[in-house]
Amino acid sequence: MKFFVDTAKIEDIKKANDMGVICGVTTNPSLIAKEGGKSQEEILKEIASIVDGPISGEVKATTVDAEGMIAEGREIAKLHPNMVVKIPMTVEGLKATKVLASEGIKVNVTLIFSANQALLAARAGAAYVSPFLGRLDDISQPGIDLIETITAIFDNYGIDTEIIAASIRNPIHVTDCALAGADIATVPYSVIEQMTKHPLTDQGIEKFQKEYLAVFGQ
Ligand code: E4P
Repeated sequence: MKFFVDTAKIEDIKKANDMGVICGVTTNPSLIAKEGGKSQEEILKEIASIVDGPISGEVKATTVDAEGMIAEGREIAKLHPNMVVKIPMTVEGLKATKVLASEGIKVNVTLIFSANQALLAARAGAAYVSPFLGRLDDISQPGIDLIETITAIFDNYGIDTEIIAASIRNPIHVTDCALAGADIATVPYSVIEQMTKHPLTDQGIEKFQKEYLAVFGQ
């Protein structure tokens, strides 16, 4: 399973990239809005100068018609060769996906909450689908079941659309997604940091340092 970082915060993107574990970035309108009024275009260009991999930028939250999404998608794609256009999972979104994909633009269909939505998005030509794990857990539906089901269906038919497990909230989500066969997990930087930690690692380092210093000194 590959890792993307799920944020528009440049500082966190740099930290995740420097760690050497991520190969892409996802953003969404809420994440962009958190960045103090900087335009999406400015943020996406800056991200593209840091990370050499797929970078998802979403069409405006207020754009609901296919024509509007297509026009915005073309503009997002022009920003950098690594741009991926994020389109919401609606009928209009599917129409836009079909057109953009036929132009060679990579589309990430987002806000996927059922296997049928994922299958439709794949058939419309999406390069990626983003099932939202945490938001399903929030309403007491096991999000991981959805990742497993989509993986099984895509395997049945040799569908090469990649599954990005999204709305990841904790390290257990990450492990579960890897077991379920997600191609990618898009993870907030705070969760990537949590994944690096184990108390026995810290204790081990402390013990090695203490025992080494006792014999060799500084
Ligand atoms: C996916 O690409 C979204 O940006 C994201 O994972 C949403 O996560 P949330 O449910 O924590 O907002």
